[in-house]
This record gives sequence, structure tokens and C-alpha cells, in this order.
Amino acid sequence: MDRWTTIIEPHRIKSVEPIRMTTADERDGYLRAAGYNLFNLHSADVLIDLLTDSGTGAMSAEQWAGIQRGDESYAGSPSWYRFLESVQELFPFKHVIPTHQGRAAERILFGVVGGPGKVIPSNTHFDTTRANVEFTGAEAVDLVIEEGKHPSAIHPFKGNMDTDALDAFIRERGVEHIPLVMMTVTNNSGGGQPVSLENLRAVRAVCDRYGLPLFLDACRFAENAWFIRQREDGYADMPIPDIVREMAALADGMTMSAKKDAIVNIGGWLAMNDDAWAEQARNLEILTEGFPTYGGLAGRDLEAIAQGLREVVDEDYLHYRIRSTAYLGEALVEAGVPCVQPIGGHAVYIDAGSLLSHIPPLEYPGQSLAVALYREGGIRGCEIGSVMFGRHPDGSETPASMELVRLAIPRRVYTQSHIDYVIEVVRWVGERAADLPGYRIVEEPPQLRHFTARFEAIA
Ligand SMILES: Cc1ncc(COP(=O)(O)O)c(C=O)c1O
Repeated sequence: MDRWTTIIEPHRIKSVEPIRMTTADERDGYLRAAGYNLFNLHSADVLIDLLTDSGTGAMSAEQWAGIQRGDESYAGSPSWYRFLESVQELFPFKHVIPTHQGRAAERILFGVVGGPGKVIPSNTHFDTTRANVEFTGAEAVDLVIEEGKHPSAIHPFKGNMDTDALDAFIRERGVEHIPLVMMTVTNNSGGGQPVSLENLRAVRAVCDRYGLPLFLDACRFAENAWFIRQREDGYADMPIPDIVREMAALADGMTMSAKKDAIVNIGGWLAMNDDAWAEQARNLEILTEGFPTYGGLAGRDLEAIAQGLREVVDEDYLHYRIRSTAYLGEALVEAGVPCVQPIGGHAVYIDAGSLLSHIPPLEYPGQSLAVALYREGGIRGCEIGSVMFGRHPDGSETPASMELVRLAIPRRVYTQSHIDYVIEVVRWVGERAADLPGYRIVEEPPQLRHFTARFEAIA
């Protein structure tokens, strides 16, 4: 297939779902009713939904077949054993604890290792990870490399940890306050940027120096492995599953949202080698998730995950996935819309701070752009900036390190013509960005405010 340059979807469509056309006037009304928070919209009023790639993928015929095969025995179901085998084939950790999604794995993990006085370093904590760390009274600290903080800086692995900063941080805070080190692969909040195996090895070496465990937040492990194969010396011919196993071999455990790189609508797990932590984790799991052979999931969900894990490491799929995301990003950059570079795996991140430079960070340029993309074209993206990260547990507010709007691409859902439409709308809005207003928050909860806050435009 190398002879042809057009990237085609490596699947055909046998079941379709209509999407509804609406007018800009109608969408204006929906926005007002939603308090200008795109999470509050009815999804039926969204034309192209790029809010998240989480749980929004299209399952394959084989996954649906697995759903039929699902065995709903309370304990020890064959579906559990198929799930376990599939997970451990890629991530051979001793204990695998299924959960209903990634944040449940985080809540259990930090329920075991967190607490007041503790601090968890990461390249960049995702919002739910940070919130689950902070909810226990612990502190979440981001130590991504300098390039990872600058949207236009080019680096093949912008998700890498600054290992000198990590070493200094451990010495400054005291190893006794740090239960583990976390690495998010790919780095979602930092622009979907990958982490190299070289960096994972260097982080491992720092952890070994201080006797600290290393955990992966591995939601997009397959996309990360694809970038390693493309960009890191020595991996061009290595099969993707082998690269994943190499990543896993450097860690002591993981949290996983199967809603991403297991291409399912719900699911996750926590895995680790430590027996004592695993016992505590299982006890917490039983309290709220369920018996340890199903967690918060039905047997049919476990089957869909087992099959999804086989499909996501397929090279044709990953080639299409990463190229089609780059197709969107490259077209926007060509149209003069600043984006985080290089283009990440699951999403294109528009640099709203630079595109809407007339709006100060605490008047939320990302929110303003996201609202405009919905109003003008029915496209729903997600602010990843000061709305999401600006507020601290003590109630104070400071600007986030970047003001981004993420256009996340659901797996196997939209075709190239959908994406061409997105390019047209973003370009149109980008050309008029100087006219967009800032926003203020008029209502917000104490945690994870971006999900439910209400806004009004600043006149
Ligand atoms: C990097 C990362 N970690 C954790 C999570 C949380 O997973 P879930 O939404 O399944 O709770 C997400 C979800 O978007 C994520 O992107």
C-alpha cells in the first residue's frame, strides 16, 4: 500500500447514526441555556462532537460479537479470564483490578498511597488524576520537560519528564513523602504528546535511585508506542505489542481508562506488582466497584476490552489513526491557526492563548474559542486551560501554563469529509478571532469546575 499517499480508514461502515443539522441561531439559544459550558449541551444538538476521544469510539464487529459472548457470572466468569489474559499479554503486571473507568482506578490507587503530606510527581497529571490525588489531601506536581510547556516548540517527545527536575524534587521534598512517580502516556493535558522509551528508562533510573515505584497512566499506550516506532532510534521494525511490553517492563503498575486505547465505551483497570498495595486496592474496590473479577463492569464489557486491546495494536489502525489526526492539525497550521506542535496522537490542540491574545488568561480565551466553534459550526471541542486547571484547592486562581482548545478525535467514528468540514469552520472562526469576547464564571463547584461551571460573556 506504500505506493499511495491517501490515508484511508482501514474499515468500512455497516451501521450508521444520523447527525442533526442546526442553525447558528438555534445553537446560540442552546449555548445560553447551557451557561456557555459545552458539557451542558444536549449531544443531539452537536454536529461534530470532538469533546473527547474517551468512550466515544466505534466498536468493531468482533467487539459486538464479544458483547454477545459476555458471561455475567458474579465471580470467576470466563469473560474475566479473557480480559485478564488480554491485559497481561501487553502489561504483564501481577495484579489486575478491573474498574468502571480510569478515574475509579485513580481513586483506588490514591486511596491506598495518597493522603495529607504526600506528593505525587508526574510528567503532567490529567485533571481527574490531579483531582483524585488532591481529594486525599496529597499534592500533585507536574515536571514535564521545558519544551512540553511551549505550544510551538518542536520536540519528538514533548511528553517527557524533566528527570533532573524530578531528582531535585525528590531530594527537596524527601523521598518519604513520595509514594510513587507517575507518567502519563501520551501526555493528554500537555497536547497528546508522547513519551520516549529513553525517557521512561531515565525516569526508572531516578526511581531506582530512591527506591520509588513508577506507575503509568497508560490510557493511550498504543498511540505512544506508535510514536516511539516512528520517532525513536532503534524501534522502526519492532512490533507495536513488543514496544508496549517494553514500556510496561519499566513500570511497577498502571492506571488505565479502557475508553481510549481499548476502544470501548466504558471500562478501565488498575494493575501493579506489589502484593500489599494490591490487597488494599482490592478491599477498596469491593467497597464501591464490585467483586475483583468484574470491578465496575459487566462481563460483556470485559469481552469488548479484551478484543479492543488486540485491535488497537494493529499497525494499519495506528497508521490511519495518527495520520488522520495529523491531517486535521496540518491543515489548521497551514491556515494560520496556531496549534500545539508536533500534532499529537488523539487530538489537535489549538493554541487559543495565542490566537485570542487580546483575551487575558483569566478571561478564558480557550472557553471563548470553544463556544465560537460550536456557535458557528456545531463543533464541540474542550477547553484545556485556565478553566480546567486555574483554580486551586484553597480557592485561589492562577493562569494555567497553556490556554488550549482540544479537538479530540473519537476512534473510527468520523470520516475525512467530516474533518474537512471541521477545517473549514475553524479556519473561518480563526480569521475572526479578534472579535471574540472573554468570559467570566458565574457559578462553579469546588472541584473539576470545568464540567459544571456556568459562564457569561464579558461585554
Ligand atoms: C490521561 C488520562 N488519564 C485519566 C483519564 C480518566 O479516565 P476516565 O475518563 O475513564 O475516568 C483520562 C480521561 O480522559 C485521561 O485522558
